[in-house]
Amino acid sequence: MTDSGESLNHRHLLGLSTYSAAEIELILETARQFREVLYRRIRRVPTLRGITVVNLFFEPSTRTRISFELAEKRLSADTVNFSKSGSSVSKGETLKDTAQNIEAMKVDMAVIRHESPGAAHFLTTCVDAVVINAGDGAHEHPTQALLDLLTISDHCDGFAGLNVSIIGDITHSRVARSNIFGLRALGANVTLCGPRTLMPRYIEALGVRVTHNLDEALEGCDVAMALRIQLERQGASLFPTLREYHNTFGIQTTHLERNPDMLIMHPGPVNRGVELASEVVDHERAVILDQVTNGVAVRMAALYLLSGVGPSPEETD
Ligand code: CP
Repeated sequence: MTDSGESLNHRHLLGLSTYSAAEIELILETARQFREVLYRRIRRVPTLRGITVVNLFFEPSTRTRISFELAEKRLSADTVNFSKSGSSVSKGETLKDTAQNIEAMKVDMAVIRHESPGAAHFLTTCVDAVVINAGDGAHEHPTQALLDLLTISDHCDGFAGLNVSIIGDITHSRVARSNIFGLRALGANVTLCGPRTLMPRYIEALGVRVTHNLDEALEGCDVAMALRIQLERQGASLFPTLREYHNTFGIQTTHLERNPDMLIMHPGPVNRGVELASEVVDHERAVILDQVTNGVAVRMAALYLLSGVGPSPEETD
């Protein structure tokens, strides 16, 4: 509970498809309060003292893994980190057995990243711990979308009528899916742009516009969100070359000149010179590192709201 007395209607955070606008706004507002802690001399509050969180990472991660761990430490939770490499998964242990053995050591919350869509939901059927999805295959990455929404709200005047274009490999992107749900819930207009081979059929059913022309996607666009080309998830080559992809769908400085107010976002890791020209990554209108900072605040908010414990975010050591 926050000072406003509001709470989430969910026990877990598996995706944004079932989260209401009010719940998303609550997480964003709580994150704004927690973000202030990150700029203090002592960046720690006692909010989750006595709570144990396990971070289960079955897939590589830099931003999500480190920011969850930092968020837990900033909240004074006890944290345990599990990585697939070096674990008994290599001896054939299943996700269910791995999770139940870790829970037997008494944990309250589990953060999971896994290559299989639905892994986070499956975990809720195996353990009593509160589960937070840190990315499950090409399904959802809710905390990434929440940090993206927080970053957009820092720079734009509300979501209603805001034009957001998501560009790249939509088919394999859990980031795109979670952002579509979050942005649509808050009233933004979403345009998807990318090669036909990387665009799911019937995606318009989610209330988005689809184009395969980058100039069209960037016309009147307030926020351009480029997605990483996920070569590791593509079974076959779905476009001729990375150079051709960059020439057709890569955002260049000329796009910034044509649209002088457009914000540039990317969830990372960036393939410089593919999704974004290297100069665009370093441009002052690229807020990629702000997204990373906001990731810690959003994950603090999600952990706090789902833990079911007080006290308020303002309380300090
Ligand atoms: N954005 C994101 O999920 O990055 P990582 O894979 O490094 O966690």
